[in-house]
Amino acid sequence: MGRTMRTPIIAGNWKLNKTVSEAVALTSELKKLVVGTEGVEIVVAPPFTALEAVSNSINDSNILLAAQDVYWEDSGAYTGEVSAPLLIDVGCDYVIIGHSERRQYFGETNDTVNQKVKSALSHNLKPIICVGELLEEREAGRTENIIKDHVAGGTAGLTGEALLSCVIAYEPVWAIGTGKTATPEQAQEVHHFIRNLLSESFSDGVASQVRIQYGGSVKPENAAELMAQPDVDGALVGGASLQAESFAQIVENTV
Ligand code: PGA
Repeated sequence: MGRTMRTPIIAGNWKLNKTVSEAVALTSELKKLVVGTEGVEIVVAPPFTALEAVSNSINDSNILLAAQDVYWEDSGAYTGEVSAPLLIDVGCDYVIIGHSERRQYFGETNDTVNQKVKSALSHNLKPIICVGELLEEREAGRTENIIKDHVAGGTAGLTGEALLSCVIAYEPVWAIGTGKTATPEQAQEVHHFIRNLLSESFSDGVASQVRIQYGGSVKPENAAELMAQPDVDGALVGGASLQAESFAQIVENTV
């Protein structure tokens, strides 16, 4: 089924960058650059400390807000954690879950990803579920196994209807922050594989509507080629989202 039924989504993952004032300055600039842009969802994911200020700043714009992580309990004695109700409270629409940096440095597993996804969904916060193989896994011919494991683990126990509120982000770990983008063909191959997995586990109808973003060194120069692939429905952008100009250009190159 064609791409036409899926609105592409371009999300900027700011990671551990931007003070509150820097975050507001970046969004103010971005707002002006993308004013009137239609046919693509534009999302920014600042650090927790800047969520509220950015939320206020994008109130009157076509930009949506995401957090970079969430805990699965709603409240209680969980020092340092932030829950879905608190993210909703500051105006978040989306939350990134299971980013490879969280899997690598903070002990995130398919099981914790799944618990976070379920909690987010139960509060109407839309999960962006990250999946992706390491370089050594790709070189060992294990890409499909890893992707299958991440996708099945992250979406375990969800209904097809719940899955429609999720976005899958395919981010080959070897392409993140390295300047080494997957070729459009490599991205399309894995995106197509993910869509087939979703067809098998859910249904053709659901799989044809779920958006699958590509992430890993997306820049204005390579965005159009990647987005032109039939199963690539947007991008999760790290480095190039830290400047309004380059992020806006990626958005423009998508529509
Ligand atoms: P990058 O990061 O665009 O800097 O490679 C992407 C990501 O980690 O989401």
